[in-house]
Amino acid sequence: MRLALEDVRGGYGRVAVLKGVSFTLDAGEVLALLGRNGAGKTTTLKAIMRLLPVRSGRIALDGTDLADRAPHSIAALGIAYVPQGRRLFPYLSVEENLRMGLLAGRSNVRVLEAVYALFPALRERLRQRAGTLSGGEQQMVAMGRALAASPRVLLLDEPFEGLQPSLVEGILRAIARLRQSGVAVVLVEQRVDLALRVADRVVFLQNGLTACETLPAALEQDPEPLYRYVGVRR
Ligand SMILES: Nc1ncnc2c1ncn2[C@@H]1O[C@H](COP(=O)(O)OP(=O)(O)OP(=O)(O)O)[C@@H](O)[C@H]1O
Ligand SMILES: [Mg+2]
Repeated sequence: MRLALEDVRGGYGRVAVLKGVSFTLDAGEVLALLGRNGAGKTTTLKAIMRLLPVRSGRIALDGTDLADRAPHSIAALGIAYVPQGRRLFPYLSVEENLRMGLLAGRSNVRVLEAVYALFPALRERLRQRAGTLSGGEQQMVAMGRALAASPRVLLLDEPFEGLQPSLVEGILRAIARLRQSGVAVVLVEQRVDLALRVADRVVFLQNGLTACETLPAALEQDPEPLYRYVGVRR
């Protein structure tokens, strides 16, 4: 499995947002996609899901150009997206939300057992309306719904946003276990320290461009790119 973005450009209407985004992602890898507010991280994930017109460049999964696919078929190819802010169906139960994920993919109801194994807290809340869950529980349902489609690639937009430490640890563990099972993850995150704990590689976006690609260990040695591209000092 390989997801490849090659010099992807696109935007909203006539406004160019992505001006040259390139990276690759292989099975079992976690790629942290980092950058300042407005750098184009969310827009990059939308481009992969074909929720944004790509003006030039190429996004391919195993050599298949996603531009040749209808937007609704991207999930069926094995790419799942957990948007920033979770976007659950608030009036549906936890279980109903998870079952929505089954519709997108190639899996059957048995995969929900794997989701409950990853997030045991959900099993006690299957009948609860999703809108009444805590933020951390909602994040688990959002990830569980994406995983119900048995994706090969999981796109996570700020999964740690607003979560208390114990829930953060749960999500980190889940990402590590997904990696072990061969799922590839693109992790967009403002909380750089958390992203670096689980990332295998790091790509910095700046103003819609891939500005730098590096490894977490290299950033330990020399954190300068973190300051330059995200504005944090470690
Ligand atoms: N629907 C839209 N129409 C026009 N411009 C948009 C739209 N959505 C996003 N943009 C612009 O595209 C740029 C990149 O936005 P994007 O959401 O990808 O940034 P981001 O890196 O995810 O930032 P953040 O860290 O704040 O989430 C921003 O300048 C934003 O204002
Ligand atoms: Mg964003």
